[in-house]
Amino acid sequence: MKGIILAGGAGSRLFPLTLVASKQLQPVFDKPMVYYPLTTLIEGGIRELCLISTPQDLPRFQQLLGDGSAWGLTIDYREQAKPAGIAQAFLIAESFIAGDAVTLILGDNIFYGGDSFQKAFADFKSGAAIFGYHVNDPERYGVVEFDAHGQAISIEEKPKQPRSNYAVPGLYIYDHSVVSVAKNLKPSARGELEITDLNVAYLRRGALHVYRLGRGFAWLDAGTSSSLHEASAYVQTIEKRAGIKIGCPEEAAFRSGFISLAQLSAVTSQMPKCEYRDYLAAVVAEAERLKVQK
Ligand code: DAU
Repeated sequence: MKGIILAGGAGSRLFPLTLVASKQLQPVFDKPMVYYPLTTLIEGGIRELCLISTPQDLPRFQQLLGDGSAWGLTIDYREQAKPAGIAQAFLIAESFIAGDAVTLILGDNIFYGGDSFQKAFADFKSGAAIFGYHVNDPERYGVVEFDAHGQAISIEEKPKQPRSNYAVPGLYIYDHSVVSVAKNLKPSARGELEITDLNVAYLRRGALHVYRLGRGFAWLDAGTSSSLHEASAYVQTIEKRAGIKIGCPEEAAFRSGFISLAQLSAVTSQMPKCEYRDYLAAVVAEAERLKVQK
């Protein structure tokens, strides 16, 4: 399974924050926003990544994430000249996908809790898999409707009268056919290749699996100044209470076996003195203690 992080777009809803740095580079409590979707993919065992952003912002992502080797990853970078729709990601990344299965995650979606994604990646064979998450304001999202047997029967993009409270979060799994399905999409009324149209194409073929994310799962989107602030407050609350970090790619890479304890220790020791380094140093110390006990 390969992974695409889509981190372009105009970020106009966050203006003037986004005048000099894109939305996905803004802080969510103690880390840049893109660290969270990056960590979600690492936790899912995905090591071959492609990050898509605007021509202006791409160099900043390259500066932040490098070639990914610090986390045992490879990261390809691709430009999206104009925000012509989420599904355009598959056309831009065609040579990266190269006939494999691929997960797309939106750079402003933050997920926390449970192992639903890991299970979906492990179970995935063909077609497409997306998720449904109960929200209060479904009209802001893609909305999926289920029948009495829990089968998805419709998906609509930002419907004025939603048929359910289940929004589709920004993590989507597809087989190799996604590129050809995306090539057949027509731009919507707002001129975009819509991810919802892509999912509807799979639904019509009977090749779409929709998992419902349970109550113990948090999905936050950080696309407006209010939701950005709420996401920061949420992350702070959990981190303070539990003494763990959410969206920490170094720790996730270590726990996923992408880097060794020695590599984690080396990466940590290169960081300036700060709370983030102290946290990782504690992760290293604990892992060393457990190793001695074995
Ligand atoms: O957050 C989940 C929702 O994301 C889904 O429920 C919707 O079905 C889906 O259309 C999308 O809705 P949004 O209104 O949030 O889409 P938005 O245009 O804000 O784009 C989402 C992210 O993708 C945002 O961080 C910018 C990035 N993006 C978007 C477009 C259209 C790009 O990088 N390039 C693009 O062309």
